[in-house]
Amino acid sequence: MQRTELTTAAPETLFVPDELRESSLAETLPLLSPAEVSDLIASCGELGPDPSSDYFTARTKNIAYALCINGDWFQIRAHCFTQPQQYNDFSGGYKRCYREMPKQFLESEATKKALNAFKSAYNIPDNEPILIQVQKSHVTGENTGQSLTGQGIHSDGADRALLICLDRNNIEGAENAIYADLDGAKSLINPCVLNEGHALLWHDNQVFHDVQPAKVADAASQGSRTVLIAHYPATQYLNGTVNPNNNLGTNLVQDSERLRDKM
Ligand SMILES: [Fe+2]
Repeated sequence: MQRTELTTAAPETLFVPDELRESSLAETLPLLSPAEVSDLIASCGELGPDPSSDYFTARTKNIAYALCINGDWFQIRAHCFTQPQQYNDFSGGYKRCYREMPKQFLESEATKKALNAFKSAYNIPDNEPILIQVQKSHVTGENTGQSLTGQGIHSDGADRALLICLDRNNIEGAENAIYADLDGAKSLINPCVLNEGHALLWHDNQVFHDVQPAKVADAASQGSRTVLIAHYPATQYLNGTVNPNNNLGTNLVQDSERLRDKM
């Protein structure tokens, strides 16, 4: 198992997809320049509501299902996903619907760079959909220190995953971590702040991940953190079936906390 510390890199040392290794269970690396991050955020348009976040830090989100055919990315007209409760006892087990990414999302060179990096890193085949989510956590003086996801250490139920930090504004904390076990006894990447443009890639069917709560740096102002998350495979999220390649399971939450019983 390899552990890779977050590095700060000058623009000229930005990510080269061929350098990623399928054999590494998790990696952090610089991926997008500041200009590319701005381009990608702009391509998302306005993010829509995320009703599940009524139960943790307020969040807005857009999603897209996309697949690559001969080097070009195409979007599937779908805007919901269901994560089986086997992977997410808190917000799994029911269909969650979001605003769909606008057409310009996949026209963005920065978006294509991010998706091509994910595809290249893990040899994701052409014609295979991936699920992409861009979400913004809205941190205030009132909700500071709350969970950003409602989940503790978990797997998302995919085989491979990518997270890119796109924006940290008046934010402290929100460190990302990778663990070998659900209890977090063995960390593979200790909690670390992903700076803007930096990515975390991991084998979602072999290791667990987590994000720490965020706090506002200046309590008098609001803060936000925006990330892009991508998962492969994605077809199982369309109908909520269990991924046969992922049997990592989940920590259970109290009966009263399960969102599938409230929605
Ligand atoms: Fe997750």
